[in-house]
Amino acid sequence: MCGIIGYYGPKDTTEVLVGGLKKLEYRGYDSSGVAVLNGSTFDVVRAEGKLTNLETKLLESKVKGPLGIAHTRWATHGVPSERNAHPHKVDGVCLVHNGIIENFSELKEELMAQGAVFSSDTDSEVVAHLVARQLKKTPDLLTSVQAVLPRLHGAYAILIVWDQQPDTLVAFKNGPPLIVGLGKDETVIGSDVQALLPYTNNVVYLEDFEVTQIKNNKATFYSKNGQETVKKPIQVRWTPQQAEKQGYKHYMLKEIFEQPKAVASVLSKYVNLSTQSVQFESLKECPLGQTDQKEFDISFLKKVDRIFIIACGTSFYASMYGEYLIEKLAGIPVEVDFASEFRYREPVIPANSLVVVISQSGETADTLAVLRMAKEAGAQTISLTNTRGSTIDREAHGHLYMEAGVEIGVASTKAFTSTLAVISLFGIYLARLREKMSAVEEKKAIQNLLSLPSQMEAVLSFDKFFSETANHFKGHKGFLYLGRGVNYPIAMEGALKLKELAYMHAEGYAAGEMKHGPLALIDDKMLVIVICPQDQHYEKTLSNLQEAKARGGVIVSIGTGEDKKLKEMSQDYLSLPKHDWLTSGLLSVIPVQLLAYHVADVMGYDVDQPRNLAKSVTVE
Ligand code: F6R
Repeated sequence: MCGIIGYYGPKDTTEVLVGGLKKLEYRGYDSSGVAVLNGSTFDVVRAEGKLTNLETKLLESKVKGPLGIAHTRWATHGVPSERNAHPHKVDGVCLVHNGIIENFSELKEELMAQGAVFSSDTDSEVVAHLVARQLKKTPDLLTSVQAVLPRLHGAYAILIVWDQQPDTLVAFKNGPPLIVGLGKDETVIGSDVQALLPYTNNVVYLEDFEVTQIKNNKATFYSKNGQETVKKPIQVRWTPQQAEKQGYKHYMLKEIFEQPKAVASVLSKYVNLSTQSVQFESLKECPLGQTDQKEFDISFLKKVDRIFIIACGTSFYASMYGEYLIEKLAGIPVEVDFASEFRYREPVIPANSLVVVISQSGETADTLAVLRMAKEAGAQTISLTNTRGSTIDREAHGHLYMEAGVEIGVASTKAFTSTLAVISLFGIYLARLREKMSAVEEKKAIQNLLSLPSQMEAVLSFDKFFSETANHFKGHKGFLYLGRGVNYPIAMEGALKLKELAYMHAEGYAAGEMKHGPLALIDDKMLVIVICPQDQHYEKTLSNLQEAKARGGVIVSIGTGEDKKLKEMSQDYLSLPKHDWLTSGLLSVIPVQLLAYHVADVMGYDVDQPRNLAKSVTVE
């Protein structure tokens, strides 16, 4: 994880770098630092903790110069501390690193044997030592980096500067993203396009093992074998305003409220409104920066025998939702798994399999590894990402998009609902292709989905309820989220949101599984949140609830319309508008997101940056 940014240009470099770090802070926030050219040397300022600590330090020692690099850290090797914060400086070489150097202990041993003295416990510092040593033999930064590159194993995106060549920044990557923004008279390079948008929409995505040299504000690109290459910049569509809080207390709350809009964007992309049918021609879209892929062959979807949907975290729960949807609508067997498990369990991927990988960031290391493994095994692949031009987007055969706009809150919300919307439409599309659904049924399903944005608006009014009751909810010792069918993944997602934001114990369970163990947990300190809309599972879920109620469980229920039975059993009853099973999860997830948000907020936690987490998980 970690976020890195570099700048070369006429603006106040320190200000640009700190502004960029603010945009990248979601990637890690246990320490941060900058190195900015001050006359003939790069001055380094670093601070432990949140970025505000660095800002305070910079007030005392602000350095000005046309070139600088900066870093916000999510610790992998070495505890979060100022000593381990980046940039690391060795003999005039300053460097910031996102990723892990896997062979760092061998390299460190070798360097120490040669007399190198380390001033941090990080893996990253070995790179600074290696380059500094190489510079003694070949006193040019680009040449030295190119010489050192083959020695590095692991995942890295690195920016590097050197006191002796104060007009030059060299950057390279393998794994984590690195994007070069080419402004009119400035160049900015960083881990995420959001950090570049205030300066330019004109960007180049660096490929693995490519190196770029930014010298006197001119970017030159080199391939793995050192050849100079020409890279065509592309225009990104996101605007810097999308990355602002716009009056909300937190990004997460803003993003929860943006869900109707995000789902509407999905519908307008994948639904032909005049024929009320699903269109997935855009599977063939060529993503930003993709150069060497063939068009996705849509006719393959007619004959696919098995679908694997693989992801991590919240995207995994969206995958589970996809399993229910696609099996029910299109009758194709679907298998879902965590990317971190799938990649190591030697899975059998039969011929005619489709592997769908879901990732908001498009950079999650395990999910990317699964994509590469699936391609290696000969499967057709589709990515569903929120980040056009991300590595997963660029490497998949076919491309779907969440269309959620920038998501900054570390806890994913609008990307989740957008994903459910895309998956629902994809399920309908497959069902139509394979003649499991008539045109009339398709129209009806589309109409249900089209009513979602306004129904979601209505459900968002629970914000007031949760802001008023959060103080009371926080007194429970544990939280059990229950659901059946499509609402089982929503129960899992609700529990994850509460765990990651409010640091309280929460579990999501299939309601029917209660009596096989978790029922023993129930007493009057346990809050049971049950999602029980009036669908095919209604009666059964109600019985499961009776069992919990009989053992003293305190119940908060989420149901449909005026539901007297459910209301009588519950301490609080939240009513969703009448809806079809197909849209259920997109409505029922909103109250569980709001519950987690308000409980965490009332407890005083940093909702947008929960402890120990980062948004883009580019390490295993
Ligand atoms: C939880 C959350 C994470 C991510 C997971 C995968 O709120 O956001 O669990 O869903 O780290 O990230 P992506 O979707 O970017 O691959």
